[in-house]
Amino acid sequence: MDLFDAIARRHSYRGEFTDQPVPREDLQKIVQAGIQAPSAKNEQVTSFVVVDEPELLAKVAEIVDRPVCRSAKAMIVCMTDPRPVFHDIAFPAEDCAAAVENMLLAITALGYASVWIDGVLRMGDIAERLGRLLGVPEGHMVRILLPIGVPVEPGVQQDRLPWDRRAWFNRYGG
Ligand SMILES: Cc1cc2nc3c(=O)[nH]c(=O)nc-3n(C[C@H](O)[C@H](O)[C@H](O)COP(=O)(O)O)c2cc1C
Repeated sequence: MDLFDAIARRHSYRGEFTDQPVPREDLQKIVQAGIQAPSAKNEQVTSFVVVDEPELLAKVAEIVDRPVCRSAKAMIVCMTDPRPVFHDIAFPAEDCAAAVENMLLAITALGYASVWIDGVLRMGDIAERLGRLLGVPEGHMVRILLPIGVPVEPGVQQDRLPWDRRAWFNRYGG
């Protein structure tokens, strides 16, 4: 799929997935797209746990109790190391977001669907419980989870404001 088609087709999918598995070959391609994202000082503080064992998927879905997690055939859990990389500045959220967007586009290009699950991980101790389940080292933060599968229902991207409400040449506001 052409890059601009993938950008246009990517959407947040929160429905059920079919029983079709997601082969490891595709999961590796998706995570490789995340690995190739830019990161501050190229310090690459984002790391990824790919979950595809059914028992472990079920345990993750017990912690992140959302319909889209319950039928996901695979999940990519993204962790960040929030250490400073440029003087005393850390960029864990930015680095992780760049990787996640690359992966969402790869997921779309390969015919799968997903959603950026973030806010729910920050509720209570959900991120910590996920970290313990997956053996994430102390000091690393679980930030974003991408459930992956073939969607039962095709979806579309939500509407965006028109170009001239959000972007201009040369001067803010045109
Ligand atoms: C930083 C960030 C956090 C998000 N967190 C969640 C989340 O916790 N749960 C969820 O269902 N969607 C989450 N989303 C997805 C957005 O709700 C979604 O991208 C937005 O509504 C636009 O819809 P679209 O992705 O279909 O274009 C998040 C997106 C971003 C960029």
